[in-house]
Amino acid sequence: MERIIIREGSLKKLKKLVEEVSPYKTVVITNTTLEKLWLNEILDQIDAIPLVIPDGEEFKSLNTAEKIWKNLIEIGFTRKSLIIGLGGGVVTDLAAFVASTFMRGTYLGLIPTTLLAQVDAAIGGKTGINFEGKNIIGTFYLPNFVLIDPKILKTLPKIEILNGFGEIVKYGILDRNVFNKLNFLKNPNEELIKECVNVKLGIVKEDLRERGKRRILNLGHTVGHAIEKVSGYRIKHGFAVSIGLMASALIAEKINGFDSAIVERLLEKFELPNKHDLDSKELLKAMKSDKKSWYGKLTFVLPEEIGKVNIENVSEKTVLKVLEELKDDSSIN
Ligand SMILES: NC(=O)c1ccc[n+]([C@@H]2O[C@H](COP(=O)([O-])OP(=O)(O)OC[C@H]3O[C@@H](n4cnc5c(N)ncnc54)[C@H](O)[C@@H]3O)[C@@H](O)[C@H]2O)c1
Repeated sequence: MERIIIREGSLKKLKKLVEEVSPYKTVVITNTTLEKLWLNEILDQIDAIPLVIPDGEEFKSLNTAEKIWKNLIEIGFTRKSLIIGLGGGVVTDLAAFVASTFMRGTYLGLIPTTLLAQVDAAIGGKTGINFEGKNIIGTFYLPNFVLIDPKILKTLPKIEILNGFGEIVKYGILDRNVFNKLNFLKNPNEELIKECVNVKLGIVKEDLRERGKRRILNLGHTVGHAIEKVSGYRIKHGFAVSIGLMASALIAEKINGFDSAIVERLLEKFELPNKHDLDSKELLKAMKSDKKSWYGKLTFVLPEEIGKVNIENVSEKTVLKVLEELKDDSSIN
């Protein structure tokens, strides 16, 4: 299992972590935004070659991976070399994908720099690139280390902090400890990030390849993925998930009497959207064709109470009704 370090100021420990891996060579994959903000602090500590890609989801592609593979060959990289991914989920997914495929797997270290990547994308061993659709090509590959320094979030725009809270509220529904913390907290801190990472690790440890228990991490994602897709990815992942969490809460209320106001209050507290302005039938269609749907069935993770969820098939009629309840054409995300 990978080493995960979560501490304010821990970026300074990178040199020691790299020495422990003892790589033949090291590259840092990052993007043009992080290059200006945080790359120097890394290059001051370790001897590494930077590979800088443009900023944007569209660069999480086979084309970028191919360019990096070529660079690695030119550099004389081997599987005893280390790839460090410095960035948000786009960079960590791509760097991990490249590391898992180059010569059947190199050493890998991740330094997630967005809240979303710190609590989710860099944790749990999923790698991916977009190919004809989002995350269609990917592998499961655990990094040698993940270095999470909350200090890095100080340069992150507020909208990206809110985006991360979409996933954090999800952890709050899955886990009572996170829920309790969220009640008296407004900004992310080391302790909250640790709690969230622990929830994810606890689940992934039992089911790396998402055959069973890991599916509960998809809470809010059945509707969330559909919202991302139908909006043409105009709506960010964390915001799509937050609308999805509201949908799951309302469906659960109809099926098992869950109090959906609990979720509504949390989303409001963290300034997250709970309404959409999309066509409900289009959303339903997208849900049925999602790679995580099971032969077109509408499967939902539904909260029963805070800290307890069930996975259930839900009828089209119920889903459509809730999507219509959540429709608000004035909600611009
Ligand atoms: N592998 C997984 O389990 C998993 C889970 C969730 C999401 N993801 C993937 O993660 C990606 C989304 O990740 P994201 O939300 O981090 O977006 P992102 O990587 O695009 O980062 C968002 C923006 O913030 C900028 N940025 C990053 N760190 C910064 C910092 N410290 N200071 C200033 N600017 C900074 C980036 O350059 C970018 O412009 C998607 O591709 C998604 O598929 C993967």
